Amino acid sequence: MRKNIVAGNWKMNMTYQDGLALVSEITNMVADETLAANVEVVLAPPAPFLHSIGKLLVAGGPIHLGAQNCHQKESGAYTGEVSAKQLHSVGVEYVILGHSERRQYFREDDELLSQKLKAVLAAGLKPIFCIGESLETREADETFEYLAAQLQNGLFHLSNEEFAQVVVAYEPIWAIGTGKTATSQQAQEVHAFIREQIARAYDAEAALNTTILYGGSANAQNARELFSQPDVDGGLIGGASLKSRDFTEIIKSF
Ligand code: 13P
Repeated sequence: MRKNIVAGNWKMNMTYQDGLALVSEITNMVADETLAANVEVVLAPPAPFLHSIGKLLVAGGPIHLGAQNCHQKESGAYTGEVSAKQLHSVGVEYVILGHSERRQYFREDDELLSQKLKAVLAAGLKPIFCIGESLETREADETFEYLAAQLQNGLFHLSNEEFAQVVVAYEPIWAIGTGKTATSQQAQEVHAFIREQIARAYDAEAALNTTILYGGSANAQNARELFSQPDVDGGLIGGASLKSRDFTEIIKSF
């Protein structure tokens, strides 16, 4: 059966010192509350902090390490880039791919994301693959066609075995960092649609086993309602993952 996951995407926030303090607070709270039984927690700090933060996390414990991006090649002359293999070597387990900020600001398209997915899987890491529509697309009533195409072109080229490693995140662009969350009905409707698409592309079992996260202004106040939806298996949290109390409240929302 699929896992529930709450993942914190720090984006380009926090200094190293602030990050260490945050991790230590989260680690204490997660341990105190012994909440971890039915939730896997993922922290995705900026790349320079990964190694040290990874060392603070207990192996086999509830908190896992994630990266926010990686390069599609295994190694070589790609100044400034980090490979999936390198991430794996410092204890990373998950890699966020296809975030709308990377699609928009770094022109990442389906072709490039396909290569990155392959690289992440080849390194033994699990992709958190993001999809989501803009406000324009939603208002034009084209959300479902748009998401179906993102899944088809970006993700469904994977084999059954590869796809079994994937976590999908639905992040409507209009909800990211705007304080405007999708209603739980909107989230459920899309998540059920994504699961249906997975069943068509693979099979019913793959669809049942895939964790589908919601992201976009999720916070301590709305997480419980969102996570109570049958097809919402957790969240990919931006702003609220930078405050230990808020993030822990979200984890407790299951
Ligand atoms: P916010 O939670 O800040 O809206 O960000 C969501 C997000 O983009 C997570 O990847």
